[in-house]
Amino acid sequence: MAEEKPASPAVAGPVTPPVVRPRRLRRTPGLRRLVAETSVEARQLILPVFVREGLEEPQPISTMPGVVQHSRSSLQRAAAEAAELGLGGIMLFGVPEEKDAVGSGALDPAGILNLAIADVVGEVGDALTVMSDLCLDEFTDHGHCGLLTPDGRVDNDKTLQVYADMALAHADAGVDMVGPSGMMDGQVAVIRTALDAAEHETVGILAYSAKYASAFYGPFREAVDSSLQGDRRTYQQDPANAVEGVREALLDVEQGADAVMVKPAMGYLDVVRRVRDAVDVPVAAYNISGEYAMVEAAAANGWIDREAAILETLTSIRRAGADMVLTYWAAEAARLLAAAR
Ligand code: PBG
Repeated sequence: MAEEKPASPAVAGPVTPPVVRPRRLRRTPGLRRLVAETSVEARQLILPVFVREGLEEPQPISTMPGVVQHSRSSLQRAAAEAAELGLGGIMLFGVPEEKDAVGSGALDPAGILNLAIADVVGEVGDALTVMSDLCLDEFTDHGHCGLLTPDGRVDNDKTLQVYADMALAHADAGVDMVGPSGMMDGQVAVIRTALDAAEHETVGILAYSAKYASAFYGPFREAVDSSLQGDRRTYQQDPANAVEGVREALLDVEQGADAVMVKPAMGYLDVVRRVRDAVDVPVAAYNISGEYAMVEAAAANGWIDREAAILETLTSIRRAGADMVLTYWAAEAARLLAAAR
């Protein structure tokens, strides 16, 4: 059935001007600043850094242009700079020279991560919150986050004991907060109990609570010389699940987490929001290696405005509900934010 053609608007009579004009609040930079609902501040940013055993000079990571594997001394300089910029924290990842099936380097007081924690704490004191990634994957030759059973499965409960010992090693080295990232059930409770029993009750736990099995961790695997074959889908979460992310966060709070994390950030902003609404502790989101690499690659091709894309990314993660953001751009973003003031 053919419809009658509507009269052209040009001859339909006078146009009624809108009464409500949201654009009024967007007219000037001053107005836009006044009504901005979200801001990004240096103190909310945490810089993840890699330190590799045996390096004399920092070494570039090809999949993460602008990010390096630090030597112990270049790490100290980066930490001092982070403190000067007023960042909220620094998250340390250690890359050992030797890896084995049980990740021995993680527990050795002279292991790279434990030495680096002491170096950084010695450098920045209380001026910057020093955090450590508490996981075995950087230290195991099979690249998994835990110990394996003889038939190759990741053994949850055996791994917990190693995590407890690792937490004590980090605490002895002076860390402010440990970041358990292995997604073993019960890890927060075990670490909390071990720390308390050793009179490290003031050491905090930033739990990687809702951590997804993501393809976007790709560049990180080069950053830590990972030897992982296969995947982590028996312990990291299925990207399909948001309710389960809330459940993981609630469990970690119950077990004593001082703050919880959602990771990755950009594809999981709904999970960030749900977790923010469900818990009563600070929420962090991890703007991961693949998110960094995508923006850097597009910018290197001239396809996007790099600095604008960085600030928009961080603003979006904050808007979704993250109180703190772990990002490889932390130092640069702090400089951009200071220059924009
Ligand atoms: C595990 C860990 C990973 C990342 C942080 N901690 C890798 C993984 O779970 O596979 C990824 C960080 C990033 O991609 O930026 N120790």
